[in-house]
Amino acid sequence: MENIGITVTEHLLLHQTESPAATGQFTRLLTELIFSAKIISREVNKAGLLDIMGLTGEVNVQGEQVRKLDEFANRVLIYRLQRSGVIAALSSEENADIIEVPDQLPKGNYILVFDPLDGSANVDVNINIGTIFSIYRKKTADADGTTEDFLRYGYEQVAAGYFLYGTSTVLVYSTGNGVHGFTLDPSVGEFLLSHKNIQIPEKGKTYSINESNEMYWNEQTRNAVHYFKSNQNERGKPYRARYVGALVADFHRNMLEGGIFMYPADMKDPTKPRGKLRLLCEAAPLAFLAEHAGGAATDGYKRILDIKASSLHERVPLFVGSRADVEMATAILSKT
Ligand code: AHG
Ligand code: MN
Ligand code: MN
Repeated sequence: MENIGITVTEHLLLHQTESPAATGQFTRLLTELIFSAKIISREVNKAGLLDIMGLTGEVNVQGEQVRKLDEFANRVLIYRLQRSGVIAALSSEENADIIEVPDQLPKGNYILVFDPLDGSANVDVNINIGTIFSIYRKKTADADGTTEDFLRYGYEQVAAGYFLYGTSTVLVYSTGNGVHGFTLDPSVGEFLLSHKNIQIPEKGKTYSINESNEMYWNEQTRNAVHYFKSNQNERGKPYRARYVGALVADFHRNMLEGGIFMYPADMKDPTKPRGKLRLLCEAAPLAFLAEHAGGAATDGYKRILDIKASSLHERVPLFVGSRADVEMATAILSKT
């Protein structure tokens, strides 16, 4: 019989003994995330057909306009995960506070943080978007998760991953034993192993940054970006610039082909320099994946995974991707 592929569930079960995270509860958690992503993927695919595109008119906790698909994705994830029996509490980019599991529902030991729809400004123009997730074990003794369970170091994650809704829908995740990619085969409704043990090339060929922010950068940041514009990549050619504006999409390309994604601190808020991306639902999970694929992630000075969150929606500068490129950017930024 020809090889018809390994599903993500089979892969997880096959590797269960290797992974501290892969218990029955963890398999259930991943299964719920996968089911939610299939539902979101279906809605994303028909977004152009229905009156689901565009803005709802509301503003989320970050002060950004909420788009209808953001809200839909958020609702699906909260509904499914609250009923999974394996979650102590949730935190979403779209909700100011942690989301508890109602008392009448069974609770579990996992803490889940997610960005339900990343790159959502791209929905209206049919460009890739994604869902990012980060998983911790509950550390407080109470059955309910508390905010303290979320204010953690990135290195405490037991798993992280993302779904990318693009030309195909892809799942990339790691439980700390390699980073694996699966592609949704819509004809059978299963994610099949397509990218086994992803390794980010040591040095990339691409840099990804929103350069329109240059006027808000300090000199070191300008120097770091200038390095990639004026030096040769791993092919001995100038680095290519590629910026989708959806972190998941830029990160995914750089994971497979090598490269660096940068969102440095800037002075858009003139009172203090700050990054845009959220530590818990964006930077930490992608840093976990990058490191487990042989890459690196810093805030320009220190390892992202060594930062302890001080609030649920803390933002950080982010430099993530190929190890040599991230180290180069970090070295330039650290020069005073
Ligand atoms: P989200 O859609 O979840 O709010 O995230 C958007 C993020 C990220 O995906 C992307 O890389 C970045 O914002 C783009 O920001 P700029 O438009 O400032 O470049
Ligand atoms: Mn996002
Ligand atoms: Mn989002």
